[in-house]
Amino acid sequence: MSFKVIEKKDLDFFNKILGGNFVVTDPEMLKENSHDETEDLSFFPEVILLPHKTAEIQKVLSYCNENNICVTPRGAGTGLSGGAIPFKGGVSLDMKRMNRIINIDEENFQVITQPGVITEELQNAVEEKGLFYPVDPASRGSCFIGGNVAENSGGPRAVKYGTVKDYVLGLEIVLSDGKIIRTGTRTLKDATGYDITHLIVGSEGTLAVITEITLKLIPFPKKRLLMSIPFTSEENATKAVNVILKMGVIPSALEFMEREALKRSSEFLKESSVYIEVPERIEAHLLVEVDGNDTDDLYNEAEVITEAISSLTEEDIAVAELKQEQDKLWKLRRVIGEAVKMGSIYKEVDTVVPRSILPALLLMVKKIGEKYGFKTICYGHAGDGNLHVNILKEGLTDLEWSAEVPKGIKEIFQFVVEMGGTISAEHGIGLVQKKYIPIVFSTETINLMKSIKNIFDPKGILNPGKIWPD
Ligand code: MLT
Ligand code: ZN
Repeated sequence: MSFKVIEKKDLDFFNKILGGNFVVTDPEMLKENSHDETEDLSFFPEVILLPHKTAEIQKVLSYCNENNICVTPRGAGTGLSGGAIPFKGGVSLDMKRMNRIINIDEENFQVITQPGVITEELQNAVEEKGLFYPVDPASRGSCFIGGNVAENSGGPRAVKYGTVKDYVLGLEIVLSDGKIIRTGTRTLKDATGYDITHLIVGSEGTLAVITEITLKLIPFPKKRLLMSIPFTSEENATKAVNVILKMGVIPSALEFMEREALKRSSEFLKESSVYIEVPERIEAHLLVEVDGNDTDDLYNEAEVITEAISSLTEEDIAVAELKQEQDKLWKLRRVIGEAVKMGSIYKEVDTVVPRSILPALLLMVKKIGEKYGFKTICYGHAGDGNLHVNILKEGLTDLEWSAEVPKGIKEIFQFVVEMGGTISAEHGIGLVQKKYIPIVFSTETINLMKSIKNIFDPKGILNPGKIWPD
């Protein structure tokens, strides 16, 4: 599919709608919006538009649809599958000025927000009212809530609290032709017609532009304990996950970090004095958080967990009760992605399997890495069976990187799908996983999904080149 190249008359129109300051063609800025956090990919937009209200987006989309100009919505650019990359040029529709929390409804435990609000800021704002929005991607300090909705993000607390889809009650969206639609309700129950809200959640900017989000909230748990559990065997660490969950305790986070992941994040944070020594014998760590309103109850749960895994590790378990200590451990966990990717070209695959399969998945990933000669560093949301596999180019030649690694990724994906899992848990398909989509879906399913896309966006102007194989 080819799109119209943006000309002076198009820029004049955008200037009229948005004002000159918010129509950007400066090459440095275009470069900034040409990538996100995905691999080493870069595709330049022709222009960046920075709307600050729905009516502006409506006019922009209506014009672009009319004139066959493609539009790639963009949040904070923290994505890991290339969703915000303007693969076919055109407009980068940058949502950073749509950054208002519209209303926190303390009576009904809801928040209505624009999409360009930083997730952590939204969490802090509702926490001040004693409310909790628990979905916290590792990048919550910089990612936008709109991007989280578009990608159906998860994060460490999904094991107890679920992912974005479990909190979105309704949306305001602008369709490709500029029509404004409201989906869902402000109620917890809704059995009225097709669920368009949840069709948009996770649709990666390919169906509509999200301009307002209504989220469900829950009461903020007052107490937390965070356990850091070392293991001398990676396999035992992954086996411990199900052992813990079978005890009837649902931790609010259950994270796996292989030795190299923690070592790299610790080195990365050395300067900021967040550093822990990882002894040679330690192959992996689990980070297990329990939350609630009573500290004694939480210590009891920690006790149950410690006993349950006693045959899998004899190492000392650290239990952090003070927020300061917990924050330090969380910081180590949250920067792993950045620390691991620093200094090498990388590919990340976001595998997920039914969690009892996690030990087998980790073994398989390492075996496939050996077969094709690549190094992997794994970590992730073990309680969800979600393993982030970072493949580093490091010593590989360009040929090995381009020819061997994709074969290995394909085998990893074939394994996860055979095991009842899928090829992305929370990062989305975007640009980088699209060639593997036929491993997951039949031709009939792909065609059905493409017909849905066609109904929403008949000219295909919204985020072209994503999700579907070329
Ligand atoms: C994480 O869990 O750290 C994030 O999904 C980011 C990443 O995998 O790099
Ligand atoms: Zn993650």
